[in-house]
Amino acid sequence: MMGCLPADLQNYTFVDFGSGKSRTVLLASRYGFDKIIGVEFAKELVDCARTNIGRFKGEWQKCRDLEIVEADAAEFVAPETPLVIFFYNPFTREVFDTVLHNIVASLTMKKRACTIIYGSSSHDSIDWAAPAILASGHFETIAAEPMPMFLDSVRTIRFAAFRSL
Ligand SMILES: C[S@@+](CC[C@H](N)C(=O)[O-])C[C@H]1O[C@@H](n2cnc3c(N)ncnc32)[C@H](O)[C@@H]1O
Repeated sequence: MMGCLPADLQNYTFVDFGSGKSRTVLLASRYGFDKIIGVEFAKELVDCARTNIGRFKGEWQKCRDLEIVEADAAEFVAPETPLVIFFYNPFTREVFDTVLHNIVASLTMKKRACTIIYGSSSHDSIDWAAPAILASGHFETIAAEPMPMFLDSVRTIRFAAFRSL
């Protein structure tokens, strides 16, 4: 997945829509993003994530500006920076369509680089999410090899990557 991203991430904000207990937020901090935001609507997960982030100390961390926003993803307004947006089995098609609409509106208002990584394992949401991203007319596919290993110890995850036009 990381191979799909721009080489220089220093002005980029990483946004994990549906960030759970912060696993991906913490893993992303290994890379040189300017800022990392997790968006999560379940209060108990938000509390857990904030505790995890507060306790976490990795020598290898390159980004230490980590924030968990307690919000419905459909209400979240992306920062006006270059973006890397991550989805991992997060929500229904209805919510995803609203989130995608908001992303496209934000990119239309302020044109900037945006990479979307969409991963799925527990269901085949990628089969409707990937076409929806392309149908927005604002993204093209980034060619990527299938993931060769397990990410969630259950199944190989399928992912697709897209860059803004
Ligand atoms: C499969 S977990 C992914 C967790 C994390 N991103 C990861 O990669 O490990 C999906 C998360 O999305 C959250 N979620 C679902 N619908 C949401 C919504 N409408 N707004 C914000 N978070 C949502 C769930 O509470 C859950 O924590």
